[in-house]
Formats: sequence, structure tokens, C-alpha cells
Amino acid sequence: MSSHPSTDSGGAAVAPRPTRSRRSNLAVPGSSPKMLDKARTLPVDQVFMDIEDAVAPLAKPEARRNIVAALNEGGYDGKVRSVRVNDWTTQWTYADVVEVVEGAGPNLDCIMLPKVQTAEQVIALDLLLTQIERSNGFEVGRIGIEAQIENAMGLINIDAIAAASPRIETLIFGPADFMASINMKSLVVGEQPPGYDVGDAYHYILMRILMAARAYDKLAIDGPYLQIKDVDGYRRVAGRSAALGFDGKWVLHPGQIDAANEIYSPRQDDYDQAELILDAYDYYTSAQGGARGAVMLGDEMIDEASRKMATVISAKGRAAGMVRTRAFSAPE
Ligand code: GLV
Ligand code: MG
Repeated sequence: MSSHPSTDSGGAAVAPRPTRSRRSNLAVPGSSPKMLDKARTLPVDQVFMDIEDAVAPLAKPEARRNIVAALNEGGYDGKVRSVRVNDWTTQWTYADVVEVVEGAGPNLDCIMLPKVQTAEQVIALDLLLTQIERSNGFEVGRIGIEAQIENAMGLINIDAIAAASPRIETLIFGPADFMASINMKSLVVGEQPPGYDVGDAYHYILMRILMAARAYDKLAIDGPYLQIKDVDGYRRVAGRSAALGFDGKWVLHPGQIDAANEIYSPRQDDYDQAELILDAYDYYTSAQGGARGAVMLGDEMIDEASRKMATVISAKGRAAGMVRTRAFSAPE
């Protein structure tokens, strides 16, 4: 997906970050070895192990140790492995990062930084990661950063945050903290106060995150839905961000996983059509196909813009491991 040349903190060109599917992103409290273990068996694209808000202050040192042990033991094959550290306004961030990355760096894909407010907070994490990677002989720059946007300051600085480090892979909406930050009246995520459509209020925030993500070639991830028994509610809220173009959403409970994987994947039919358009457009624009720029594919007229739309759907489908069921055949 990445089309921008990236540079590391020293200005050297680095390879684009890998495009990883993140339809479902499972939150696992680092204080629970049982849940860290169970996460291995669940069909999610990403697991994030938490040392932040799902872990009580007194349990944080133990959570760090549990997470290092779980990562090094392995068994999360095919899943993105992320660890959420505490935010920079606490006293825990540096120790979270040092302990987890020194202890399990090669078995870890990303650090998730919550409550990001400024680009400098991302740069601070980037520099710390680089130091740990260098001093431990780990590949420098491999570990990505996920930035949670959870307050007004984070949202107004989101463009600078997205551009702050080539390590940034995702921009994540944190609805619970966000609502608290802006004094939004509905204190239950997804609840609708009478007379006002909260969906409208979220629309601006979601769109703002999405614009920054697309401008800087990052993934846009929707946050948690707290009513874990209300799968219909989950589907409704996920459907809203998926329709805008978000790439995935958190899951707090195994019951939400299927919905996330389905809602953030292209439908099979759309995926097949996208692959067909890419092949057909490739053929028709070639000398052999007549070097044409706009042609009919069945009932649909396709041109360069169709190719761009198809590229997006194809990339999401391929990242999710979808297999096409229709092939293009050039006319005789
Ligand atoms: C997630 O961290 C949230 O605050 O919603
Ligand atoms: Mg939060």
C-alpha cells in the first residue's frame, strides 16, 4: 500500500512498512496469563497486549513480565503482535518500553502508544526504540508504532503525529477516552442520548482520523465497543467506520471477532470484481489490448479511476488472504 518514500530519523531511506491485515485487533490485558494464552487460538489479525488502562497500577510490573514471557514462548503465528505501553504523561512509559523490547524485541511487531497528543511524543518513542534496537543488536526500525488518538489535542495534531516517524503503521480511534476528553454527554460508547444522533458527532472524528491515515499511508483503526454482549451494536458501529474506509476495529471479546473479520473484509463478489478489473485494465491499456484508456467490462465502464478503486479492494482482500474465484480471459 505504501507509495511514499520513507526516511528514518537520520534521513536515510528505509523500506516501506509491511502492509498487515488488521481487521480484528484483540485487546488482551497483560495481567492475565490465561488470556494471553487463549489469544493464541483466536482467529484475529492482531493481538495487542495491554499494560495501560486494562491493567491496575500495582499489576503493571507483572504484566510486563507476563507479556515478555508470552511473546518469547510464541504461538501467535500469522498475527500482528503489538504491546500497548502507558502514555508519556505517566511514570511508566520508559520502563514499559525498555522491559518489553529488551526482553522480547525480535518477537514483537509494534508498540502501541496511547493518548498521543503531539508529534514529539512519537519521536520520543521512536528514538527510544532505536536505542534499544541498537544496543541489543536488533534490526533497527523493524518495530512499528501504533498511535492512539484519544483526546482533542491528539486530533488537532493528527497530521504531524502521522508524519512524525516512518515507524507509524496505524492511527487508532480511542472512543472511551475521547468522549471523556471532549465532555461528550453519552458516557457509554455507542449509546444514543435522546434527540441527538451521536453517529453525527463521531463522523467528524472518524473522518479526521481517516484523512490523516490516507494522506500519510497509514491504516485507520476503530477502537473498542464496550457492550461486549451486544454483537448487533458492534456490527452497527463497525459498519459505520468500515463504510467510511477504516481498515479494522478492536475486539474485546471472542464474540466480536467474526463480525470484525467480516465487516472489514471486502465481500467475495467485490474482491473478485476488483481483481478482474485490474487484469482487464492491464490488458486493454497494453499495446496488445489496443492501448485503450476507457473500456467496457461487462456492463461497467472502467478507466484509470476504476483501477485505483480496484487496487484498494484488491489490497484489502489480499492482505486478508482472500482467494479470487473468477479469472480474466482476454478476448480472442
Ligand atoms: C481505548 O483506549 C479507548 O479509550 O476507547
Ligand atoms: Mg483509551
